[in-house]
Amino acid sequence: MKLVHTIKEVRTQVKEWKKQGLTVGFVPTMGFLHEGHESLIKKAVEENDKVVVSIFVNPIQFGPNEDLEKYPRDLDKDSKLCQGAGAELIFNPEPAEMYVNHAATFVEVEELTNGLCGEKRPGHFRGVCTVVSKLFNIVNPDRAYFGEKDAQQLAVIKKMVNDLNLDIEIIGCPIIREEDGLAKSSRNTYLSAEEREAALVLSRALNKAKEHLFSGEKDASKIKEVITSEINTEKLAKIDYVEIVDSEILKPVNSMDSSSLIAIAVYIGKTRLIDNFTWRIS
Ligand code: PAJ
Repeated sequence: MKLVHTIKEVRTQVKEWKKQGLTVGFVPTMGFLHEGHESLIKKAVEENDKVVVSIFVNPIQFGPNEDLEKYPRDLDKDSKLCQGAGAELIFNPEPAEMYVNHAATFVEVEELTNGLCGEKRPGHFRGVCTVVSKLFNIVNPDRAYFGEKDAQQLAVIKKMVNDLNLDIEIIGCPIIREEDGLAKSSRNTYLSAEEREAALVLSRALNKAKEHLFSGEKDASKIKEVITSEINTEKLAKIDYVEIVDSEILKPVNSMDSSSLIAIAVYIGKTRLIDNFTWRIS
């Protein structure tokens, strides 16, 4: 496995692979990798001849009061995880490699970014879509892998790829959780022992919602109430949002159907965590 820092090195390697007729899978990340990221890489390895992982803490997707400076980093550990999972190339650029001074071009997906995290984190998805577009242009993959953990991000990227006619297949991968139910996240490392315990309220609230759903409750406002009152039992938790939307267009729904997404964002102390559940009836 190779670790490179420049766009040129990635392009040279990928061109060589393509010349040999090999397929390329891509997993964009911000590093501090865990089993959630690993599951994406392993799926990419299964489905492609070569896999590229990018590790780049993208400054333009963080708001002014967010955690850009303290976002956790550990390139050595990340490299080992990538190698173990079967990736062939890590792209780990400096911000100056990715952003020229005075860039004037950004990628913005409208409508789908109006609610949920888009509403709470203005500019976030513009930053995500811009960096993902740039990474797609640099890596030129056949397939790219994203986690359902970030359900809005996955829907927005699918829309962007469709709207811009990008010839890349976007593959969503299931949420990987700790044994006790907490969705794995690089940000879980910010939690104190007491907060870590309190953070279980997110998956617990979603499980309660599922119980109601499975016993026939379809009224979205009632399901939201179940979630809200469960989260409010936890004194360290503060709700940022609890929403039920269509999983593709992300517009709020009144009644649960086969493609409804329950999405929540909750502060545990100062740490903002997200989790979700998609109601799927096949
Ligand atoms: P990051 O938070 O590092 O996540 C990289 C990918 O891993 C995303 O597609 C995310 O949904 C997925 N992921 C994270 N935790 C997961 C879990 N518990 N189970 C399954 N998948 C999980 O998302 C980003 O980085 C950035 O916004 C990025 C797309 C790289 C653009 O900068």
